[in-house]
Amino acid sequence: ESIKKIALLGMGTVGGGVYEILAKQKPNMPAKIGSTLQVAKVLVRNKAKYADKVPADQLTDQWSDIIDDDSISIVVEVMGGIEPARTYIREALSKGKHVVTANKDLMATHGHELLEIAREHQCDLLFEAAVAGGIPIIRPMKQCLLGNDITEVMGIINGTTNFILTKMAEDGMEFDDALKLATDLGYAEADPTADIEGYDAGRKLAIMASIAFHSSVTFDDVYTEGISKITAKDIRYAHELGYEIKLLGLAKLTPEGIEVKVHPTMIPLQHPLAAVKDSFNAVFVHGDAVDDAMFYGRGAGALPTGSAVVGDIMDIARNMQYHCTGRIGCSCYQSLPVKKMSE
Ligand code: NAP
Ligand code: HSE
Repeated sequence: ESIKKIALLGMGTVGGGVYEILAKQKPNMPAKIGSTLQVAKVLVRNKAKYADKVPADQLTDQWSDIIDDDSISIVVEVMGGIEPARTYIREALSKGKHVVTANKDLMATHGHELLEIAREHQCDLLFEAAVAGGIPIIRPMKQCLLGNDITEVMGIINGTTNFILTKMAEDGMEFDDALKLATDLGYAEADPTADIEGYDAGRKLAIMASIAFHSSVTFDDVYTEGISKITAKDIRYAHELGYEIKLLGLAKLTPEGIEVKVHPTMIPLQHPLAAVKDSFNAVFVHGDAVDDAMFYGRGAGALPTGSAVVGDIMDIARNMQYHCTGRIGCSCYQSLPVKKMSE
């Protein structure tokens, strides 16, 4: 029986979810992917913190234990931030290791460079979990919708803010209490300012726009406005007028170029997006052939995000087993202008 070794960089909310799902899926792996995955190393900063969760021989605080181990073929980056994640991913790809990441900050700023390195080394760099947690959206746009000219991608793409707005609207909860609950449930970023001010949604939108329009869109191109100024009174008044307030991300092709923006929006109560509650996300994609396609599910949290990460890992392992890797990470870009949005 074939065994493939993987390394996890990070054992927080997402890393914990990935670890749990991999253990649960182990008996099913030979049938699903023709081999078994073994977690060889788990990289963290503070090993003592994870001693009751991860066996001592797996835990390490040294990157060299992973990058210098040629038996590890897949590196899973779930620690977040730009550095050292960017350097580790570059080094892993350059040594021919496949990479899976959930890191939208990194993919929205350096994704194009990393995908280029992956292509050079014929490795996969997969990032399904970077957008909309457990919802399959990257692969559908990259593969299933290739026969379309996509003109618009729109939706609720941040679980934390949707959770906060839902709790304020339905349970009369204060903003700060709802944010604390979202953090306790593992939805929020390490610095929740990214959620509240719309930066996290902006990063996801940049990634989706790049794929949808085969262009290079980065986070700097996205106009962002968050929900920190929304009050319970705003939500109440919106309801009286027949609207729900949601933080929306919108990317569309206009005659002047690509428009990418994130801001709170009044949605009619009967619109499907008004019914998207708690940490759920929903994304509409409009293509010239498919018309409207809608993707819905949990946008944050350990197991939903772990589901997307493990899907990527198992897909790579199956491709390795049958000698067909380096397919999905590949992207081609044209250079469409990006419209600068004013305040
Ligand atoms: P988290 O709970 O803060 O966990 C981060 C983990 O990474 C911890 O185990 C930490 O170890 C480790 N780590 C951080 N920096 C490190 C470094 N320099 N060297 C070694 N280990 C390091 O974060 P998370 O919520 O799981 O998020 C991880 C990534 O997934 C982020 O990119 C995030 O944006 C993305 N993501 C999160 C969600 C979600 O729902 N939470 C959903 C989709 C994507 P120590 O404890 O020892 O510092
Ligand atoms: N903080 C993010 C959110 C995690 O709330 O949507 C999922 O990307």
